[in-house]
Amino acid sequence: MLTPKLPHADTRVDLYQALTPQWVALLEGEVNRTANLANLSAAMYAAFDWHWVGFYLVDAQRDELVLGPFQGPVACTRLHHGKGVCAAAWDSKKAQVVDNVHDFPGHIACSALSISELVMPVVVNGEVVAVLDIDSVKVSGFSQVDVDGLTAILHHLAAHWNHWE
Ligand code: SME
Repeated sequence: MLTPKLPHADTRVDLYQALTPQWVALLEGEVNRTANLANLSAAMYAAFDWHWVGFYLVDAQRDELVLGPFQGPVACTRLHHGKGVCAAAWDSKKAQVVDNVHDFPGHIACSALSISELVMPVVVNGEVVAVLDIDSVKVSGFSQVDVDGLTAILHHLAAHWNHWE
């Protein structure tokens, strides 16, 4: 697995292009959603210097996001509409790039070390089923390059989501 030290944007584009087929291959042949999200979280965590990476899953019965597979420090287990970065991605169905979480009204601090955050929704049939949440200890740890770079693997997840158990 590649272990870069946060390169500049051009290198990062190449990096996502190299990593995406590896991530897709990692998910091949397994239909258990938890297993796949767990391994994907681990592979993503290994490839970057991210502080936290993982998934929150939509709990439709309770209308909340519940903690799913992740890598990093212990995290908040349940998140609600209208508060925090994950909920913003859930409610808007759009990626959220937050340069400094202290400037984001309602940000939920699971780890005091997290400074910037990227959250991207997994959208299946027009509905958000989960969000990918990534935290960095750096200011402005994420950009559109990361959103673009992660779009392919999130589309892959969305395409397979309902075929997984
Ligand atoms: N910061 C998130 C909560 C999840 S943790 O970062 C893992 C939010 O504001 O929704």
